Amino acid sequence: MENRLQIAAGNWKMNKTYSEGIELVKELIERTKEGRAMVILGVPFIHLKGVADLIASADSTGGQTSSIKLAAQNCHYEEKGAFTGEISVDMLLSVGTEYVILGHSERREHFKESNEILSKKVEHAISKGIAPIFCCGESLRIRKAKIHVDFVSNQLNEGLFHLSKEAFSKVVIAYEPIWAIGTGETATPEQAQSMHKEIRTLIERKYGKDVAQNTSILYGGSVKPDNAKDLFSQPDVDGGLVGGASLNADDFVAIINSF
Ligand code: 13P
Repeated sequence: MENRLQIAAGNWKMNKTYSEGIELVKELIERTKEGRAMVILGVPFIHLKGVADLIASADSTGGQTSSIKLAAQNCHYEEKGAFTGEISVDMLLSVGTEYVILGHSERREHFKESNEILSKKVEHAISKGIAPIFCCGESLRIRKAKIHVDFVSNQLNEGLFHLSKEAFSKVVIAYEPIWAIGTGETATPEQAQSMHKEIRTLIERKYGKDVAQNTSILYGGSVKPDNAKDLFSQPDVDGGLVGGASLNADDFVAIINSF
């Protein structure tokens, strides 16, 4: 098949105290040494440095490089300055962050992040060397109106497709239908596959077949140990962006092992 990375990404959202997070990562490092998939942990800002140190020490003492990479859950599009409470890409880079989750529906909804703002964040992150995990996905109302493909297409057009081909090749996409997030209602493997294929076709039209075939497209929305295998076995589903089930080592390890 293509050279796409298979990725199990966790998004902790606003969960875990510092010590709880560190304990979870210690366990994950121990239990994912043999894994085939790349594991990305989207942790709160306060955990980034501690998790980076754990991964580095596992790499230097374990004899086997950890497959765990670090993601932030947000960044600002300006270099630095008077933006109280925000975090810059340089700050994220300075503690070894390699990815940043951008465009999550919770940030779009609660923090009013528009496609325009996201397009600036994506561009800035890539220009500095952090890869965006760009989230897209429709609400139940949009799906019921059967305009979900157009809706997601618009999110990609306005948020991502201003990028050059070279810049776009750094992007990971996460399709997260809002009606499936935290609801226990998962998209069926067929629904996920169908939208992922549409997304890949859109990428192909814009950037060509090679780029489209090499872009990892993750599914997010109530991924659990008992549905991960069916979802990940779809030809255009390259892994998952996992919320609730990434907070528990047993569940997340089972999901990682579903590839
Ligand atoms: P859940 O897995 O809890 O539904 O969350 C999905 C999500 O929003 C990941 O970013």
